[in-house]
Amino acid sequence: MRLSLTVNGDHLTSGAEPVTPLVDVLREEFYLTGAKPVCREGFCGACMVLIDGNPTPSCLMPVALGQGCDIRTVEGLTANGGLNPIQVALEACDAVQCGMCFPGMVVSLTHLLTIRPAATRDDIRAALTGNVCRCTGYERIIEAALLALATK
Ligand code: FES
Ligand code: FES
Repeated sequence: MRLSLTVNGDHLTSGAEPVTPLVDVLREEFYLTGAKPVCREGFCGACMVLIDGNPTPSCLMPVALGQGCDIRTVEGLTANGGLNPIQVALEACDAVQCGMCFPGMVVSLTHLLTIRPAATRDDIRAALTGNVCRCTGYERIIEAALLALATK
């Protein structure tokens, strides 16, 4: 039996085993490679996607549980596939180094900007507690989020 999923507004089906991690189906069946399986333990946030609008590590979610949910990956954050305000700000602030963590960062920060348009520096820090960056330190990322809030 195939599983039915809604990903970035598209209705897709998967032949994966129900317990397969969602991140693997997104990447290997749907070629949405933004979400990265790095720790596979729910710790690093590199695999973050939005499930019904909430940031969720897709490495911990069995694909079968995604049925009936609105699944949104970093590729689907804008209607036209262009950059959203947080992506523009991250680039402007030169915040990206290796880039491994950034799809997850973008997902978490996009969610924050959506639910809290007047977010503070502390709100940004709190929003990133589930996202680990091994390269940059976090200051430029926080500056980028503040820039995105100011220019939104
Ligand atoms: S790979 Fe999912 S949280 Fe690290
Ligand atoms: S830019 Fe390399 S892990 Fe964040």
